[in-house]
Amino acid sequence: MITDGLKDEIAAWLEFYHDLGIEEFCPYPRAVTEQADFQPSGSNRSVEREAETVPMTEASLPRSSASSEQAAAAPRPPAAARSLSLFEAEAARRDRCETLNEVREDLGDCHRCKLAAGRKHIVFGQGDPRAELVFVGEGPGADEDEQGLPFVGRAGQLLNRVLHEVGIRREDVYICNVVKCRPPGNRTPERDEVEACSPFLFRQIEAIQPRLVCCLGAPAVKTVLGLKEGILKLRGRFYDFGAAKALATVHPAYVLRNPREERILREDFAKIKAFLRQPTSPAS
Ligand code: URA
Repeated sequence: MITDGLKDEIAAWLEFYHDLGIEEFCPYPRAVTEQADFQPSGSNRSVEREAETVPMTEASLPRSSASSEQAAAAPRPPAAARSLSLFEAEAARRDRCETLNEVREDLGDCHRCKLAAGRKHIVFGQGDPRAELVFVGEGPGADEDEQGLPFVGRAGQLLNRVLHEVGIRREDVYICNVVKCRPPGNRTPERDEVEACSPFLFRQIEAIQPRLVCCLGAPAVKTVLGLKEGILKLRGRFYDFGAAKALATVHPAYVLRNPREERILREDFAKIKAFLRQPTSPAS
């Protein structure tokens, strides 16, 4: 039974799609199949995002004001493919987690801020797309810009060393930055640059669904957690970050400038290791 309310809703949706430039609705179910991201062998993550198939059946709504008899006479898709209405399919598409590949594709050859002009490479991120631990740095330096990879210069070598010391393998984590292009002279990213780039950072984290996000330095803490106090005050503590936790610590470049402070990084990374040793609850 199609009520007046439902008719109005359908009309509103059709108008919405029309405004988006969509004139035709496929009369048959269309399968949207997506290749899953690389799944590391031995991963104990149970998240399955393989080959999602979203039948778009009620998209067969007649474009003209066809009568319900005409609609009933129209070919019907197989029952199995009729499981989602147009509205449900749209909601499912919105609710579905993006993959890192999709975020990367959307970023494209980004020119959303002025950093694009001076970069050699976009440094999107590197590591396990199902990592339990994500590191967020500030922005690529010269070496990272050259290679298109995060933390490969001196700060990266220090990061690798401290990770190794606490028994975390770099290939098991994911590493990215607040901004994906090198700020000139390695200056701190400016507000407009962070505003343009950070939505992609949050989408990366959302795609990975880590248990813990480690913010390296004040700009990462400010962007990820919105906390503006000094890093030495905020460091070493866990904060709520959606379903995950976040830990603030100093940036490895700070330790390179203040070698006696290396103990801070060691202490905080030991906390990370202890956190990751805790079993996850069945629901997480
Ligand atoms: N510093 C950062 O913040 N990020 C990098 O990728 C390298 C150095």
